[in-house]
Amino acid sequence: MHEYTAIAHPNIAFIKYWGNRENDLRLPANGSISMSLGALETRTSVTLLPELISDELELDGSLQSGSALERVSIFLEIFRSISGRHEFARVVSDNSFPQSAGIASSASAFAALALAASHAYELLLTERELSILARRGSGSAARSIPSGFVEWHRGSSNDDSFAETIAPLDYWPLWDCIALVEDQPKKVGSTLGHQLADTSPLQSARLQDADRRLDLCRKSILEKDFAKLADVIELDSNMMHAVMLTSCPPLMYWSPLSVEIMRQVSGWRTGGLEAAYTLDAGPNVHVICSADARPRVSHQLSEIQGVLDVIVSPVGGGAFLIPH
Ligand code: PMV
Repeated sequence: MHEYTAIAHPNIAFIKYWGNRENDLRLPANGSISMSLGALETRTSVTLLPELISDELELDGSLQSGSALERVSIFLEIFRSISGRHEFARVVSDNSFPQSAGIASSASAFAALALAASHAYELLLTERELSILARRGSGSAARSIPSGFVEWHRGSSNDDSFAETIAPLDYWPLWDCIALVEDQPKKVGSTLGHQLADTSPLQSARLQDADRRLDLCRKSILEKDFAKLADVIELDSNMMHAVMLTSCPPLMYWSPLSVEIMRQVSGWRTGGLEAAYTLDAGPNVHVICSADARPRVSHQLSEIQGVLDVIVSPVGGGAFLIPH
């Protein structure tokens, strides 16, 4: 049987996705905007094997069972039902970065899996259709199908909640300098976290203001206006973490070191350095910066006591299939 291999990059959200209006289909409560991270990748191979009696998953060299395998198997079931094929699959996936460290490995994982599986099950899909399917594995995976700067539309149903490029990867040479504060998997994963969003009294205010932030962010990218972008991405990250902190039970993803880094980055910007922070569902701090600022930002981050490592990434492309 033929093996299909796809590569996808994780993405960092400038305007965050937090909360679903429909959990099974992962229909988001709000639209979101992100940048693909070209230096990091997940490589996934899918082979359909008629002799298998269930799906198999090997992740970073170790055979999986339990919830990780179950999640992949539920996802592959969608491809089997659309294609009308019944074979189970062997899935082999490797990440070039630590898993579940707040670098959204599920985004690149489900984007690469969606692309490889669509070929294995012989489905000829458009980028939009692939983004919709990737979304069913992990919401943010919808944004790891297209290239460059990407917007995921909230949509009104399964068929129009997809992500597309709003500016190509070479449009604006921004960088993400990721200060690794912890390299352990997070305690509460985002699938569960999304379900708690509505328990926060702040979520409705966050959603009411989402279109305004999306407009500001889209405009600041198109106009390459760093000062405007910085203000809106820090505001949006703080609003998502305010919802997390006030949900029931509360989720606190920040560590004292995350807070220290956020304060320092704001200070650097006041001093003229083009840098802004944003954090996903983990303590690591993503510092978005201009090409000019990148050497100083990565050096200054690495000098902060307790920072384990600084991973640096330019804007990346979309998911692609590797020819065999
Ligand atoms: O795709 P998920 O379910 O892992 O959710 C991602 C949630 C955040 O990373 C916190 C925000 C985002 O938009 O990527």
